[in-house]
Amino acid sequence: MKRFLTGFLIAVFTLAPVMAEQVPFATPPSDRNPSEPAVGTLANIMATIQLRHIKLWFIGKAKNWDLLNYEAKKLEDDFIAAALFYRNLPIDNVLLVDKPLKRLMEAAKKKDYSLYTKAFDELTAGCNSCHVAGQVGYIHIQLPKSSPFSDQSYER
Ligand code: HEC
Repeated sequence: MKRFLTGFLIAVFTLAPVMAEQVPFATPPSDRNPSEPAVGTLANIMATIQLRHIKLWFIGKAKNWDLLNYEAKKLEDDFIAAALFYRNLPIDNVLLVDKPLKRLMEAAKKKDYSLYTKAFDELTAGCNSCHVAGQVGYIHIQLPKSSPFSDQSYER
C-alpha cells in the first residue's frame, strides 16, 4: 500500500506540470508547484471542488464537450493538490473520484451523454464516501439543482 501510495504521488507529481501547461498562460515558474500558493486549507480546496462539481454538471447538460474535458481536468488537478498537501487523505478515496473524472474525459472525447451522466453519479458518490470515511458525512453532495455561474455561457 505504501509503495502504491508513493508511486501514485510520484505519478501525480510528474503529471501535474504537464496538466498545467495545457493552458499556456497558467504555466507556473519551473521552481514551484502550481498549486502551492493557492492551496490553503483543505476546506478551501473543497469549496473550489464544490464549484467545479456544479460547473461540470451544467457543462455536460449543455453538451459542451471541450469545456467538459477542460473542467474535469481542473477538478482532477484540485484533487491532486489536495492529496499532495493533505497526506492523510486516503488514496483509495482519491482514486474513487479520479476514476469517474477520467470517465468524464472519455465521455467528452466520445461525446457520450449517457456515459457523462453515469460518471457524474459515480463522482458524486465518491465525494460522499470520502466524507463519510473522513467523519464529515454531514457534508452531503447531491446533483446540482441550479448554477450560480450566470456570467459564463456553456453553450458551444
Ligand atoms: C479523498 C477525500 C475527499 C473527497 C474525494 C472529497 N472530499 Fe470534500 N471534504 C473532505 C474532507 C476531509 C472535508 C473536511 C475538510 C475540513 O473541514 O477541513 C471535506 C469538505 C468538503 C466541503 C465543505 C467545505 C466548506 O468549507 O464548507 C465540501 C463542500 C466538499 N468537501 C465538497 C466535495 C465535493 C463536491 C467532492 C466531490 C466532487 C468532494 N468534496 C470529494 C474529503 C473529501
